[in-house]
Amino acid sequence: MLDHYQSGDWRADRVVITGDLIQDDTAEAYDRFRELLLPLNMRMHCVPGNHDIRDLMRKVCCVPPFSYCAYEEIGDWLLIGLDSCVGGDDAGGLLGPEELERFSATVAGSSAKHVMVCLHHPPIPMGSTWLDTVGLRNGDEFLQCAQSIGRVRIAVFGHVHQAYDKAHDGIRIIATPSTCRQFKPGSDDFALDDQPPAYRRIALQADGGIDTELVWIDDD
Ligand SMILES: [Fe+2]
Repeated sequence: MLDHYQSGDWRADRVVITGDLIQDDTAEAYDRFRELLLPLNMRMHCVPGNHDIRDLMRKVCCVPPFSYCAYEEIGDWLLIGLDSCVGGDDAGGLLGPEELERFSATVAGSSAKHVMVCLHHPPIPMGSTWLDTVGLRNGDEFLQCAQSIGRVRIAVFGHVHQAYDKAHDGIRIIATPSTCRQFKPGSDDFALDDQPPAYRRIALQADGGIDTELVWIDDD
């Protein structure tokens, strides 16, 4: 995926990485992640996924150009990363009261007209039985919070290894497929799909509009 990006003409201003940076619980894996991503030479917003080890991840992702569950104002937009992980062996997600309060307070303290939220877990069911047992348990609470805050236009997440893009009460709910293997959409049980790795381009317009495009990395 990085080779595809580097060899193309399209250039991003920021990178958003919605968790599960590693899978083997080692500091070396985060070092490898850092080495791979550093050549992009731009700010990279990271949030943890259920496979991440927060303490190890912070050692890499709290150091520029990476940032960890941070916020940034970019033109008319506020971008904020939230930690939706329960921790331990629990693959599911939950936004605790402190994280929801941080979300509300950060948006309240910003004059940005539009807000993009980045988290690991899907705030709404994907229609896939096994994945929906490990989604964001308080997705309704999160969406109600986002609605009451106002200005939240888009929530992007990973975790589900498949594409998803629907509006929910005026908020675009967007999943980006994995940069590795994909899961089969709509499956009751764990099942891999044969789709290739992918990344998503997102253009945030000054008027709050959102243009997005998936880039599938086919071998050819
Ligand atoms: Fe995950």
